[in-house]
Amino acid sequence: MMSPSILNAIVGDLRRIVGDRWVIDQRELIESYLRDETPDPVRPKPAENLVLVKPSSTEEVSLILKIANSRGIPVFPVGGRTGLVGGAVPTEPGIILSLERMNRIEVDRDNLMAVAEAGATLADLIKAAEDAGLFFPPHPGDEGAQIGGLIATNAGGSRAIKYGVMRNYIKGLEVVLPTGEILSLGGKTLKNNVGYDLMQLIIGSEGTLCVITKAVIRLFPKSRYMLTLVIPFNTRSDALKSVPAILRSGVTPLAIEYVQINEVLEAARHLNESWPVQKGFAQLIIILDGMSQDEVLKACEELSLVCEANNALDILLAETPAEQSRILKIRSSIYTALKPNMIDILDVTVPPSCLEELMNEVDAVGSKYRVYLPVYGHAGDGNLHVHIMKEGVENEETAKKIKDEIYERAVRLGGTITGEHGIGKIRLENLHMVLSEKHIDLLRSIKRVFDPNNILNPRRLL
Ligand code: LAC
Ligand code: ZN
Repeated sequence: MMSPSILNAIVGDLRRIVGDRWVIDQRELIESYLRDETPDPVRPKPAENLVLVKPSSTEEVSLILKIANSRGIPVFPVGGRTGLVGGAVPTEPGIILSLERMNRIEVDRDNLMAVAEAGATLADLIKAAEDAGLFFPPHPGDEGAQIGGLIATNAGGSRAIKYGVMRNYIKGLEVVLPTGEILSLGGKTLKNNVGYDLMQLIIGSEGTLCVITKAVIRLFPKSRYMLTLVIPFNTRSDALKSVPAILRSGVTPLAIEYVQINEVLEAARHLNESWPVQKGFAQLIIILDGMSQDEVLKACEELSLVCEANNALDILLAETPAEQSRILKIRSSIYTALKPNMIDILDVTVPPSCLEELMNEVDAVGSKYRVYLPVYGHAGDGNLHVHIMKEGVENEETAKKIKDEIYERAVRLGGTITGEHGIGKIRLENLHMVLSEKHIDLLRSIKRVFDPNNILNPRRLL
């Protein structure tokens, strides 16, 4: 572990690189950089002796990393700190590197792409695309998330069915290696076939291989028409059986979300809003988009037939943009609404057709430990959020057993322990459930090639 005096010794160097104003070492001024959105009971504790640095350019990032590397000082790159697995919590004395001042976005309308600096937020990107008459289709979580973090964690979110997750949108990256060299990967070409794809390796590497400073992000034409449906069912089974049938019918929604009435009503209460559909234990929220009202209404008819054949109780259509964003906002707030009473949130993912079986397995674990485990998730992706709540769970050991059993059952169904939130710090202990020793060995070797002194986001992901 590094001694406090080494860190103090480089504060002067950091001030010379970025200017006095952008080096902050008073604890009370860096409080909000010491945590992310991970629930309190499982969130790692931040270290003492941390200094926050806010560079304004890629060259400054490079100089900071060179100094840190030469002295063996850990660097924790952070974005909007919206992660759920403690990935951005600075757990060792060292440097917190925030790129929030690097937040420019330029839209290239002719190539339908945005060039965004890492510190721009998701809200900035959505707006920049919109202002240029284009569209960034996915909604990978909290809009305060920053581009660098969204790419480093390969964020997914609710609108991933039609066009995919972050990985599918990134065409180019500018990154700084822990040793200070600046690399440019990919660009604005849609095809690029030169050698190993380092860019794809870096996407999802959770800030352990390099610091992302800039990205070329693919945009799409603005959908002229969008429709959100809320469809209640009496049973989970009816709701979930509709999902593959919808996809087989040729209708490809932007999103198919599964929620249960208790949790979605709680989220609405939390926001002081009302949820538009009060009936049915299980509900699907479906977002359709297209180039014309006719096209979308036709898809809606097709989809309605499928849901009716699976005993849908009703079909609510939200047509105005305001009503549609209200529905998405309530759905996106379930986590925040449940968080005060929560120990942990899981994001197990199985082949989509196995989702019902996974939920039944989750119920079985709940009965075994006599606890209610609320679930909701991205049904079209087979990505389920299971919440381990405080009520009825005696201690951390029990919570860990519940988590491990759910993970085992998901893996047995051909799934994985995380489809969305990543490994970060708090899932490290479960990595062996999905990766072989050899696989982990190869990843460790790759880490050493990029980061020989292990300074960048140490002791997470691997
Ligand atoms: C969501 C977050 C928790 O889907 O991933 O709301
Ligand atoms: Zn999610």
